[in-house]
Amino acid sequence: MAHDSYFREYTSSSERETTQIAKDFADILQIGDVVALKGELGSGKTFFVKKVVEELGFDGYVSSPTFTILNIYEASTYLYHFDFYRLKNVEEIEKIGFFDLLMEEGIFFIEWPEKVEKLLPDEYFEIRIDIVNGTHRKIRIKKIIRNEDVPCQN
Ligand SMILES: Nc1ncnc2c1ncn2[C@@H]1O[C@H](COP(=O)(O)OP(=O)(O)O)[C@@H](O)[C@H]1O
Ligand SMILES: [Mg+2]
Repeated sequence: MAHDSYFREYTSSSERETTQIAKDFADILQIGDVVALKGELGSGKTFFVKKVVEELGFDGYVSSPTFTILNIYEASTYLYHFDFYRLKNVEEIEKIGFFDLLMEEGIFFIEWPEKVEKLLPDEYFEIRIDIVNGTHRKIRIKKIIRNEDVPCQN
């Protein structure tokens, strides 16, 4: 992933619009990228990942990994889809081999990244989805770059 900034802000009023936003985003993804998706239950994190994964060439069934914690889809590269909603602590995350998996060749999608914030790489995409109402969503995508040379803000 190159060291450049990226920020997009959208309002989606339908699944169809979100689908287009997800497809456009998929087109910039590269092997090794990590995508962290934040937003309350039902905001559309899994929906977004499903559309990205389809754009990346996976034509199978995409389900929420809430109970399995990890789904792996095979497209032109491996797509790792995590959901940490049910995880309680870092030990559990270690147990599923999260660190080792991040070393694998592929693209990584993480729902509920709040649970692993400190374990995320120095560079990743953060997607924030907010429910405005009904089928309206605010979607913000930004590249997070945590640079050791820059003093921490907090
Ligand atoms: N504009 C929209 N964008 C995305 N999803 C939408 C939109 N409007 C309605 N939805 C619906 O919202 C739900 C989001 O569910 P899901 O993706 O499982 O949420 P999460 O993973 O954040 O809990 C889906 O049923 C989806 O069809
Ligand atoms: Mg989900």
